[in-house]
Amino acid sequence: MCGIVGYVGQKNVTPILIEGLKKLEYRGYDSAGVAVVNNGKVDMVKTKGRLAVLEDKLKNLNISGTVGIGHTRWATHGEPNDVNSHPHMSNNHKIAVVHNGIIENYMQLKEFLISKGYEFKSETDTEVVAHLIEYNYKGNLVKAVMNTLNDVEGAYALGVVCTDCPHQVVAARKDSPLIVGLGQGENFIASDIPAILEHTRDILILEDREVVSLTTEGAEIYNLLGEKVEREVFHVDWDVASAEKGGYEHFMMKEMFEEPSVIKATINPRIQNNDIVLDKFRLTDEMLFNCEKINIVACGTAYHAGVVGKYLIEKLARIPVEVDVASEFRYRDPMVNEKQITIVISQSGETLDTLMAMREAKKKGSRILAIVNVVGSSIAREADDVLYTWAGPEIAVASTKAYNTQLSALYLVALSFARRKGLLDDKTYQTYLSQLQEIPQCVEQVLQQREMIQKFAYEHFNAKSVFFIGRGLDHALSMEGSLKLKEISYIHSEAYAGGELKHGTIALIEEGTLVVCPLTQEHLFEKMVSNIREVKARGAVVLAITPEKHVEEVTKVADAVIAIPDIEPLFAPAVAVTPLQLFAYYVSVMKGNDVDKPRNLAKSVTVE
Ligand code: AGP
Repeated sequence: MCGIVGYVGQKNVTPILIEGLKKLEYRGYDSAGVAVVNNGKVDMVKTKGRLAVLEDKLKNLNISGTVGIGHTRWATHGEPNDVNSHPHMSNNHKIAVVHNGIIENYMQLKEFLISKGYEFKSETDTEVVAHLIEYNYKGNLVKAVMNTLNDVEGAYALGVVCTDCPHQVVAARKDSPLIVGLGQGENFIASDIPAILEHTRDILILEDREVVSLTTEGAEIYNLLGEKVEREVFHVDWDVASAEKGGYEHFMMKEMFEEPSVIKATINPRIQNNDIVLDKFRLTDEMLFNCEKINIVACGTAYHAGVVGKYLIEKLARIPVEVDVASEFRYRDPMVNEKQITIVISQSGETLDTLMAMREAKKKGSRILAIVNVVGSSIAREADDVLYTWAGPEIAVASTKAYNTQLSALYLVALSFARRKGLLDDKTYQTYLSQLQEIPQCVEQVLQQREMIQKFAYEHFNAKSVFFIGRGLDHALSMEGSLKLKEISYIHSEAYAGGELKHGTIALIEEGTLVVCPLTQEHLFEKMVSNIREVKARGAVVLAITPEKHVEEVTKVADAVIAIPDIEPLFAPAVAVTPLQLFAYYVSVMKGNDVDKPRNLAKSVTVE
């Protein structure tokens, strides 16, 4: 979704804005622009298309100054074009605004402003904010922004500059991410840390309904009542290299290669003295014993991790689990009460659907446990307990290493709950703990087989439609494999439970249809072999993924087999997902797609 960068300092602002926006490209965008305060005026340049187009435009103009805001837009209201691009300017040309989110009552505000004589240029919801700030401005920009936001409904991260305040950037947020970076004689705002990491590691995380005033001296945070708020500085301990490609052709490949180390980072520190220690969890044994049901809510890949979580928790901890996509959960008046725990899973911690679903569950009394990757994100801050996935920054839109760490966190939760409930004896518990710690090594071995997966992908990148079928945990895994392929290869794909195909969808299998089949679940193995025979009998080409010990048998029915190390079936999804990710990656490369920034998609989905 949209990316924001703002700067106030001594240096020329334009390259700082452009370089910062480049670091936010992964979020997805269709247009870009900057506004720079200079000599009593705001110079604004914006355009449809990639940042390279904006840079080209800027080359021929002499735009410089020491205060400015920049934006990459992911269109919601109004098509991607030059006019709808941000920044948006007030009618008096004094105030420029960039915005991420949706102003829900913009139509009413627009009518009001039109009745006051304001003229609109764009179709965006954002333009009302620029005009409303002008309307409210009586010589104090912070106050004008506060008054404006008191009338605004919806989600926003905002950056504002004004010619009357040539040494100030004002910013604000509600339900859309925005951070403040503190430098020496220079300060920043950004949608995400990588945009400013080159300049500073000291961050202030804005809370909802807060406004910040940035000058060269520092940053002052206020609530919407105008009261000053103190905020602790958060020091980022990962470096620029973590957010760069480091010699890999794509972030996605780099991130897949990081899987072994980030799984280790998520699991190992939580196993202490042969026991699982879940950070500073305040969930008591009493709450756990009284828990009637667990809800898992998430979106996309995180939702697929949640489906694995359901299997794990039900099997090990014997607590019923309902998994739902956050956007559905939120609006179905879910039957949630104080005897339930809701697990919220999100890489970014800012996905609006997930955040809102979490608030819905919390409102109904449920205890919230968040599995989140971004420290200090909205979901992490609002949850009762947080289990961080230590995946580091994930830049490619297609989530890979974050999914692996979400599974790692869910293994820890399921095993810890089961142990606390007295459902695992010492021996079984210790065996599970040591097998859990073998996952990184197993993923490493799968990554070594990439050339074989690449070869298979090259033979099938022209497929029109691909089916993923599996049973039990392999069904959950199939859902993720299918999503990965869809989002970066643009090939139609569906995931089906192995036993469900014959109830209708098998009609779509014809000569040459590609079917990908993970077979990692011992107790379902024979059933799955039968399902493979069924699709083969109708002409399908089958790629199977199975533990080494079954390769010989599976080779008799499938066209190609990828072996994963022999591992306890419960942990197999964490290993068998890597070949599916690699397959999607190589198909996408072969098709010449933009692997890291697939069309129409955004990394952090901060609108509904
Ligand atoms: C994954 O490849 C997708 N890009 C997407 O489904 C993602 O997992 C989803 O939008 C949820 O994001 P989150 O984990 O940041 O909440």
